[in-house]
This record gives sequence, C-alpha cells and structure tokens, in this order.
Amino acid sequence: SGDSGDSGGETYTVATDNNFVPFEFLDEETGEMTGFDMDLIRAIAEEAGFEVEIESMKFDGVVTGMQQGKYDIGIAGMTITDERAETIDFSDPYYDAGLMLAVHADNTDIESEDDLAGKVVATRSGTTSETYLQDNHPDAEVETFPGIVEAYMDLEAGRVDAVMYDVPNVQYYVANDAENLKTVGDVLQGEQYGIAFPKDSELVEDVNEALETLIDNGGYDDIYEEWFGE
Ligand code: ARG
Repeated sequence: SGDSGDSGGETYTVATDNNFVPFEFLDEETGEMTGFDMDLIRAIAEEAGFEVEIESMKFDGVVTGMQQGKYDIGIAGMTITDERAETIDFSDPYYDAGLMLAVHADNTDIESEDDLAGKVVATRSGTTSETYLQDNHPDAEVETFPGIVEAYMDLEAGRVDAVMYDVPNVQYYVANDAENLKTVGDVLQGEQYGIAFPKDSELVEDVNEALETLIDNGGYDDIYEEWFGE
C-alpha cells in the first residue's frame, strides 16, 4: 500500500469520501480505500516526500472538515467552486468532470434536463448537483440522499424518476447496470476537481508542484489509464 513509505517526511491527514466510484471506495479485500483519487494523492505524497493517513467519511464531512481545519488535505472528487473557495483553498484542477442525468432504462419521458418539471430527481446532499437542481430546476422535486448508492437503488426500483450526479460516477453505474439504467442528455455543467486544503495551508504549493511533475512525467497518465482506460 502507498499509505506508509520510507520517505521519512511528515504525516498528513487526508479526508476522503467513503464511496464515490471510481475515485474513492473501499477495497473489500485489503480493507483499504482505493480509486483514482487515492492513487493520485499517494503518488503526490511520494513525489513531495510526505506520508498520508487516509480517513473516509461522508462527503459533507470532507467539506466542513476542511473548513474547520480538521484535516491537512481533502480529496473527494470535489468541484472547485467560487463559493467553496471562500472558505477552503484548492490545488490546481486535476480532473475535468461535469454533471449528467441517469434514468431507468425503460423511461421514455425524460430525454434531457428539459423534461424534469414535476419529476422526482435524486442526488447526494451537499454536492454541486443539489445546487444545480435548486438553481435551474425549481419545478422538479429534488430528493437528496446522504449517500449516492441509495439514490441509484431508488432509480432502479422506480421510486425516483432520475438521478443527477457527476459524469464519471453516473457512467460507472450505468455501465455496471445497463439493464436498468441509461444516461440521457448532454453534460449539464462543466466542472473541475481540485484537492482541498484549509485556508492558507502551506501545503498547496508543494502539492501543486508534485501534481505538475506527475502530469509531466506520465505518472498522472498511468493512474488515469488504470481507472478510466478502455
Ligand atoms: N463534484 C461534486 C461536488 O463537488 C460531487 C462530489 C461528490 N464526491 C464524493 N466523493 N462523493 O459537489
């Protein structure tokens, strides 16, 4: 595992979400957190010469934990937004994402976000999808869940009409349950993920430097390929 090395550097706490495939999720076999974000932060730590101790929690907990300075680093597919940037520092962007809709494979009345009026749309609380729905779809009935898994389960069971969430996560679920789920419409809002820090953290610069090195030397591409390659 990348959790302990022999760099002899400082150990920093890293807050992450407990379930956001394929960025962070529990590897049942090893009992350790795995995924794109986990590989990336371990590679950054190795490059920058520090150790990481990973703690997983609910997504809202990552955001508030960073605001309260409870952890040194946060990585959780967190979108860089102006609002968050008022209370949290962000690294340079490390992943281009966006929002997308999924519906039941049998659904014929929702073809895009233009068909959401009067529909029940599920997403995870405290995320950019929740804000997007509030701002752009006041006529939809928004149901927020503490975890996104429940939202997809309700969609499969027909209890909600659609799920709105981050493109890579929606695509992952749809690919794994093409019998029951499908995506509709285009990417709704372009977003970029950033690594989070408490305001004015001195780590931002080191992490940005290590990220840049990994982008230049192919380390980033290897991780990308592992999680998103065909
Ligand atoms: N990118 C969205 C946001 O920042 C959703 C992130 C969800 N991430 C997670 N680890 N559950 O609000």
